[in-house]
Amino acid sequence: MNDIGLIGLGVMGENLALNIGRNNYSLSVLNRTIEKTKMFMEQKVRDENIMPFYDIKSFVESLERPRKIILMVKSGEPVDNLIHELLPYLENGDLIIDGGNSYFKDTDRRIEELKASNVLYLGLGISGGEYGALNGPSLMPGGLLETYKLVEDILLNIAAKVDSKPCCTYVGDDGAGHFVKMIHNGIEYGIMLGISEAYNIMRKGLMLSSKEIGDTFKKWNDGELGSYLMEISYKIMYHEDENNNRPLVDFILDKAEQKGTGKWTSITALELGIPAPSLTAAVDGRLISHFKEERIKLSNVFEKKKVNLSLDKEKTIYDLEKSLLFNQFILFSQGIWLINEASNVYNYNIDSAEVLRIWKGGCIIRAKMINFLIEIINEDRENINFLNNKKSVDFLLGKFNSTKHISNIAKDLYIPALIHNTSMDYFLGLIEENSAANLMQAQRDYFGAHTYERVDSEGIFHTEWE
Ligand SMILES: NC(=O)c1ccc[n+]([C@@H]2O[C@H](COP(=O)([O-])OP(=O)(O)OC[C@H]3O[C@@H](n4cnc5c(N)ncnc54)[C@H](OP(=O)(O)O)[C@@H]3O)[C@@H](O)[C@H]2O)c1
Repeated sequence: MNDIGLIGLGVMGENLALNIGRNNYSLSVLNRTIEKTKMFMEQKVRDENIMPFYDIKSFVESLERPRKIILMVKSGEPVDNLIHELLPYLENGDLIIDGGNSYFKDTDRRIEELKASNVLYLGLGISGGEYGALNGPSLMPGGLLETYKLVEDILLNIAAKVDSKPCCTYVGDDGAGHFVKMIHNGIEYGIMLGISEAYNIMRKGLMLSSKEIGDTFKKWNDGELGSYLMEISYKIMYHEDENNNRPLVDFILDKAEQKGTGKWTSITALELGIPAPSLTAAVDGRLISHFKEERIKLSNVFEKKKVNLSLDKEKTIYDLEKSLLFNQFILFSQGIWLINEASNVYNYNIDSAEVLRIWKGGCIIRAKMINFLIEIINEDRENINFLNNKKSVDFLLGKFNSTKHISNIAKDLYIPALIHNTSMDYFLGLIEENSAANLMQAQRDYFGAHTYERVDSEGIFHTEWE
């Protein structure tokens, strides 16, 4: 009998299976396309205790009770279909673990639906890509605590370790794990766009070569901006196309794809009524990139009268670094605010400092900054928006002029800096004592008799404006 089963031998499933096997657990594997299972066994499996199966019944029967089955398949319908296929063979107390990027509301629903069959369900957010899955990902399990306890040992062993602690924690109830993974991806989109905007300014404003941009990213990665995404960005800049020995990045079509987690983050922010414009800008940035044909057409009809800037290279690079720190901080603050709000609204009971701790290793958004963020959260555990803190404001104010400078350079050069501009405006919005929403309230009352409150007396008011 094997300790655990895994269905779905795609990029993530294969590597996770090898990781589990290497950690001395016996594993049954199954994949829809049989050929893939065969190739996996022949080409990838070495000494690991991994056994292939080609039908659901014998796969399930090969597992120790209570059975633990990880699904590593495409999110959405395939997950529901597999649950449906598995159910006839499962017994009371068996456990399905969904390790894909499922929508957290689907996970809430599945946990609820499976109660009728007495089958347990864990929504497991996994980050770290192919490398992480193999060598230690960041794991974000959510569901019943008792359910998590059934696989805690395996998850802690296969997770990445930072300061000898596994980057895995019980995140919270129901779909909490997938909720947190969704926010992780929302932040990931934002950091990626921020770095890409800095790249654009360096190549178009400072006329730096890919190699020089790579050197700058590398230097930043050694400093405060150190992060996995910065590390891969400098490596990408150095990477040459084997056909022509020129930077490969120059030959990649500038249309960014997405699979949905960023979009879900924005939708959720709107549903929860928590402002997260930078996270949304990150999705919009990808969407704009997608309209390549329109962009080509429009770039020819609009005359871009460039200001002769004669940029100071050193100062611009300094300001870019500060502006990326500003941006990254805002992205994390918006994400954590959403997590804290969801924790209250959906009763997920998430500890956001613990979430940040498990994001310190294994995952795509691991960054040096996270230690500082945890410190801020721990100063006031009741504060759900950690931007609302003196240390946070001081940190951002220290980078504000640089961010403003970068934003101005970008405008003068007609370079979009969506995420920089949005993060700056978000910050300005949150530090503005008297906003212009008084006018919007007046407008609402004018056309819709929606009423308003006054600053000088209590009560609800309506005016006949005409
Ligand atoms: N790639 C990443 O960096 C990453 C990181 C974190 C989480 N994830 C999530 O992890 C999950 C797997 O991702 P991946 O990158 O490993 O995907 P992948 O390489 O595209 O593999 C997809 C897997 O899903 C299976 N599958 C698709 N439709 C199915 C269906 N209707 N019924 C049964 N099996 C089906 C495929 O089986 P066949 O071989 O038969 O097609 C394959 O095993 C996804 O939810 C993804 O969002 C991915």
